[in-house]
Amino acid sequence: MRSVPAGIERPDYALTGVRNRRKESRVKTPEVIERMRRSCRLAAEILQQVGAAVAPGVTTDELDILCHDLIVAAGAYPSPLNYSGFPKSLCTSVNEVICHGIPDSRKLVNGDIVNLDVTVYREGVHGDCNATFLVGQVDEAGRRLVRVTQECLDRGIAAVKPGRPISDIGRAIENHAKAHDLGVVRTFVGHGIGEQFHTDIEVPHYYTPRARMIMEVGMTFTIEPMITEGDHREEFWDDGWTAVTVDRSRSAQFEHTLLVTPTGADVLTALP
Ligand code: MF3
Ligand code: CO
Ligand code: CO
Repeated sequence: MRSVPAGIERPDYALTGVRNRRKESRVKTPEVIERMRRSCRLAAEILQQVGAAVAPGVTTDELDILCHDLIVAAGAYPSPLNYSGFPKSLCTSVNEVICHGIPDSRKLVNGDIVNLDVTVYREGVHGDCNATFLVGQVDEAGRRLVRVTQECLDRGIAAVKPGRPISDIGRAIENHAKAHDLGVVRTFVGHGIGEQFHTDIEVPHYYTPRARMIMEVGMTFTIEPMITEGDHREEFWDDGWTAVTVDRSRSAQFEHTLLVTPTGADVLTALP
């Protein structure tokens, strides 16, 4: 595991790998929101910088090291590091990997798609975002998958409205994916975020009447649809983390952390 300088504030799981779930208000105070704005902005900047290093021949380990060094240089802790034992500072998910890919010595090759998921912890709060990048020349079906997945996130964000149930978000995403004959991953969901990486708000990216929690002004959560070319179901590698599509079709993902406002959503991980 890469080291983090002693002066940097760590989340509770950093030493043990065990996350102690605590009670945390779903609606954030203005003071917490201000801290989250700064963490989220940092995560977005680092995602952009690491994404700019994506190229054929670059290994996902090299991207992890770049991400780790940028986060630490900003006085922050890379949230994935030792979260439930995750061994790296960045999640890198290539082609048929849905999410939680572990950086390794494989070089990216022309035609790959790769998702980079960056989460940082600073001033006691997390900011979480991801994007899928094209490696060199990607075929038309892959470019379409990535474009529609980005649109799915946009549709989900547009569905955020106080007073409405969270199920509105998954309905909007699923409708758009289905219109393009693409699959929606069900096992992994968006989540509440703040002082803890994952809180008890759950945001399915498909429609389910069980997502009946009502959105309230001041809530912070992520939307992070994973969209597949084929079967939406996953299986896991023996590493216990890497989730891949059962048919090995490609999967893309985009993620933002957002705040519910009186009129809709404020995207905290958007770059100005
Ligand atoms: N950033 C991921 C998310 O969007 C979570 C990664 S957990 C890790 O929720 F342990 F794999 F890092
Ligand atoms: Co997330
Ligand atoms: Co994430």
